[in-house]
Amino acid sequence: MRAIRIGLLGLGTVGGGTVRLLHRNRAELQRRVGRAITVCCAAVRDPQRQRTCSTAGIRLYTDPLEVVRDPDVDVVVELMGGVEPAGAAVQAAMESGKHVVTANKALIAERGNELFDAARRHAVMIGFEAAVAGGIPIVKVLREGLAGNRIESLVGIINGTCNYVLDAMDQEGADFDVALQAAQRCGYAEADPRTDVEGTDAAHKLTILAALAYGIPLQLSRVHCEGITAISPVDIACARELGYCIKHLGVARRREDGIELRVHPALIPRRHILASVRGVMNAVLLCGNAVGDTLYYGPGAGAEPTASAVLADLLDIARAMSARAGQQVPSLAFQPDALLDTPILSASMMRTGYYLRMQVEDKPGVLARVAGSFGESGISIQAVQQKGAEPGARRVALVLLTQCVAQGDLEQALVRIRKLDVVDRAIVRIRIESMDSAVSCDPG
Ligand code: NAP
Ligand code: HSE
Repeated sequence: MRAIRIGLLGLGTVGGGTVRLLHRNRAELQRRVGRAITVCCAAVRDPQRQRTCSTAGIRLYTDPLEVVRDPDVDVVVELMGGVEPAGAAVQAAMESGKHVVTANKALIAERGNELFDAARRHAVMIGFEAAVAGGIPIVKVLREGLAGNRIESLVGIINGTCNYVLDAMDQEGADFDVALQAAQRCGYAEADPRTDVEGTDAAHKLTILAALAYGIPLQLSRVHCEGITAISPVDIACARELGYCIKHLGVARRREDGIELRVHPALIPRRHILASVRGVMNAVLLCGNAVGDTLYYGPGAGAEPTASAVLADLLDIARAMSARAGQQVPSLAFQPDALLDTPILSASMMRTGYYLRMQVEDKPGVLARVAGSFGESGISIQAVQQKGAEPGARRVALVLLTQCVAQGDLEQALVRIRKLDVVDRAIVRIRIESMDSAVSCDPG
């Protein structure tokens, strides 16, 4: 049987890793699929640039549509990033009957609903395993491995760059910017690293995971999103003293009244298994109503871990092309006409505990006034810590951990507390994730 020929869009970190892996594992891949897989052409911005892989036998174009239109190409693998021109190229590939693989979470989260519709109309496959959690085959887990379950909750460390930066700050006392630059040098960060540290990349991934888990359309705009840019060494140190570490999480929880979708930094107990996820590693903790808790762990970014996921999709397509083509497994795990309109809850309804750090006047009665304001809002305090005042300073840091509370109630209490003349207006607020699997914290 003749080789399956790939047209690559992008030969950067992931594109280079994909070409290297196709060469290195050539014999093994052929044994799995029964035919060879070769790259015949690729699109890049700068054809003169030095590549991390051999480009022997690969025609280089600068226009992605030239790859799509190349008559030799059977499958288009999009590894450029960004919504456009990647989206137009993917659309054109499917219109010309070519299968697509992409690692582009921004494209899937923002345009996935229409792209999957186009894939059905043109009877082609679109694989996106590499778009979520790098080398962890989490899309396959949700679409196939746990298909017998009703998924109750999903909590994940799903941005390798954020985890790398927070871990370096926690373990080595690294500076935020220095750690971020190191993540960029390793090829972990997005072309614009604000996408990582402001939480957008994790929101893209959570959008995709939630659609797969709950059988709902992709709804990026409904994800509550916070990044890690406001996390300071002092909060990391306070959290450590209280037995917590700070992780950037993506959380999707089914509740009776809807689904919580949120991305934010959170304090998690240091003894919890997710606290030991270090560096660029990702982990996703899934709770299904049959299997209970299952944990998926692995590299969340980087050239070859991501290429591993790209190749898994390529192999699925190659196998289908060799047997009966078509969509055997629905793109979003559920039948397209069976997607639900379950409400996504507003941020004010989301319930977690909170870590709060505020500067207060160092005099008797202050703690009672702050605690009283929380009490008026029905919010219980779980722990209080007062940091010693610097010599000569009239203000001290007060750290409080609250019990579980709706975000709207907490915000009302903070409005009251900011009005106290003994408290500075700037209050650091980080969620505490209980890490209870199936249920969100008890509203009572
Ligand atoms: P990258 O290193 O910046 O590579 C992008 C490649 O696309 C480069 O080869 C670039 O050409 C080419 N390109 C970009 N725009 C183009 C255009 N308009 N026309 C032609 N070529 C164009 O990016 P990456 O890190 O490999 O990421 C690629 C995709 O994978 C993104 O969607 C990203 O979110 C996703 N992803 C990345 C990782 C990771 O660890 N890096 C992990 C999972 C998913 P030049 O080289 O000539 O500039
Ligand atoms: N920039 C992303 C991250 C790449 O750091 O997780 C993997 O999706």
